[in-house]
Amino acid sequence: MTSSAPRSASDDGALPAGKRVVVAAFGETPLDALEHHVSLADMPAPDAAALAPDEVLLSIKSCGVAWVDLLMMSGQYQHMASPPYCPGMEYSGVVVATGAAVDAARAAVGDAVFSDFILAGPRAGGRYQSSGGFASYAVLPAAAVRRVPAGFSFDEACNLLGNYETAWHCLIARGRLQAGETVLITGASGASGMAAVQVAKLLGATVIATGRSDAKLAVVRAHGADHVINTANADGTPGVRRFRDEVKALTGGRGVDVVFDAVGGDTSLECLRCVAFGARFLIVGWTSTPFVARGRGQRGAPNANQLPTNLIQMKGLSVLGSPAVISVAENPAIRPPRVAQIMQWVAEGRIRPHISHAFPLVEFKRAMLARWNGEVIGGCVLHP
Ligand SMILES: NC(=O)c1ccc[n+]([C@@H]2O[C@H](COP(=O)([O-])OP(=O)(O)OC[C@H]3O[C@@H](n4cnc5c(N)ncnc54)[C@H](OP(=O)(O)O)[C@@H]3O)[C@@H](O)[C@H]2O)c1
Repeated sequence: MTSSAPRSASDDGALPAGKRVVVAAFGETPLDALEHHVSLADMPAPDAAALAPDEVLLSIKSCGVAWVDLLMMSGQYQHMASPPYCPGMEYSGVVVATGAAVDAARAAVGDAVFSDFILAGPRAGGRYQSSGGFASYAVLPAAAVRRVPAGFSFDEACNLLGNYETAWHCLIARGRLQAGETVLITGASGASGMAAVQVAKLLGATVIATGRSDAKLAVVRAHGADHVINTANADGTPGVRRFRDEVKALTGGRGVDVVFDAVGGDTSLECLRCVAFGARFLIVGWTSTPFVARGRGQRGAPNANQLPTNLIQMKGLSVLGSPAVISVAENPAIRPPRVAQIMQWVAEGRIRPHISHAFPLVEFKRAMLARWNGEVIGGCVLHP
């Protein structure tokens, strides 16, 4: 089509108005933000005629509810969106209009697509940062949409890039995980953890997965983990029990070659005692100690995690910071091969996100609490 006017599914009639979640200000914590600063607001009917030539208008069908979406609401995540903004880093939906210059091969009205969280939404910079996926509609640049892979649902498509890029960056780019090695994955029932289990198995590694719930770990095992260890105290008291003996027993007394640590705190400490000499310890995140930075976006790191230099020294460890997005900002060339590998695995049917929870948009608070309270296995989504 060569017309210079935007193309729309509703040229004969306006699109209906919708709803969007708005973070009006940072909270002291994510829960404080959820209680006092986050609400569901009306969203005016989008105007397809107002699209810039390179923009796409989506009717959102599904949006991932991520741990990072919560941490961003108190400004305690390393990347801050500026309130007011709409949360929801990754979403999927149907194209309802395109700008005049959008190549139909990229996105055409009626296409099922998903968003690239580094190019649009609250994890991105620039003008598309304020429009996340907890909404009926989103406007984003055509470069930030990809077709939903064949056989994938909208829910699966918006739980793909962030999680598997994290797994790829940590295990492959940083950890150099090899076939035949053993990797200990903490927080394995989480969004990143479930992806890491699948990627580690594709690489030919043996996976020992940890978590706090037998029921969740059963699902992790079904997704490929060779061994699972429940690290919760048997009497239900908070904290992490000693599990080094089990890991040593599973590795013939040697310890693991690689740790993928998404949990932090006491779990990290116990993992340091589970490793072989010369192991690689991958810092993924710290869900057990989320309040490292000050609340309300005041930055600083008064509660930073600390690792013991004695254990790192005696075990000859390599401790590797592994930020999947910051590393791309430093070197954009690392991203295309990792996305290409992930999309190839998808096409070959070798990876598929697991989604345990889905909620309508009006129940966004319940969805976010489910994520924060560790009820979710893999993905949690909102259906606007
Ligand atoms: N390196 C990167 O580039 C990158 C990218 C994305 C995310 N991250 C970070 O990685 C971490 C995990 O992210 P995610 O999206 O996978 O989160 P998630 O889906 O919420 O999963 C985290 C898992 O951690 C466990 N967990 C939660 N609270 C815990 C606690 N208090 N004590 C012990 N375990 C707890 C839970 O499993 P159990 O209930 O079974 O224990 C949960 O399934 C976060 O810190 C996030 O910021 C890093």
